[in-house]
Amino acid sequence: MEIVAICGSPRPKGNTATLIEALLEGAREGGAKTTRLDPAQMRIEDCTAGDECLVSAEASCRIDDDMQQIYGALRRAQAWVFGTPVYHSHVTGTLKRVIDRMYAFYTNAGGEWRLGLEGRRRGAVIVVQADSEEETPRRVAEYLEQIMRAYNVDPVGCVAASSLTKPGDAAAREDLLARAKELGRELASEAGAAQ
Ligand SMILES: Cc1cc2nc3c(=O)[nH]c(=O)nc-3n(C[C@H](O)[C@H](O)[C@H](O)COP(=O)(O)O)c2cc1C
Repeated sequence: MEIVAICGSPRPKGNTATLIEALLEGAREGGAKTTRLDPAQMRIEDCTAGDECLVSAEASCRIDDDMQQIYGALRRAQAWVFGTPVYHSHVTGTLKRVIDRMYAFYTNAGGEWRLGLEGRRRGAVIVVQADSEEETPRRVAEYLEQIMRAYNVDPVGCVAASSLTKPGDAAAREDLLARAKELGRELASEAGAAQ
């Protein structure tokens, strides 16, 4: 059973990455094989709305960049993890660019929308921010859960954390690390049970 995590932060060892790694550690303890992808370190272009991808289930995105690797990983995995820092009250542009390119999983032949992904998946979300208020990361997590549902991914939970600013801040928060690890175990267990 495979779990793929998309880290929306440009910091490879930042707070989002730290909590994703804790989650993936828990998932591996639960028997999952895990992959983390950092699109900020990859070449991912913007969706150009060419719409060729919508023609048929076989048609894919015509842009030949590292998104092709992400498509493969998302297709293979039984569970998805989306992680992002809050940037100006929302997800990073890096993560949003990946989400926009996921449109290629859909087809719209003859006006009928169809998702070209087999089966249902499980999902989990990590959101961090510097400010101490707690509503924004929760709202951003809800947004990511809504996106997941549009791809037949059922969210099992999230870690939405505030008061994290410098890259090492999450590593000093035992409570958040423990919650992320537990969420990873739960994700592996739910995704495994759904097979
Ligand atoms: C461009 C930019 C915009 C940001 N916008 C917000 C914001 O709207 N609210 C907030 O609380 N923190 C904001 N932050 C701070 C980050 O969310 C915070 O430092 C977070 O811990 C970074 O996570 P990372 O280490 O995974 O990259 C912003 C940071 C950057 C670089």
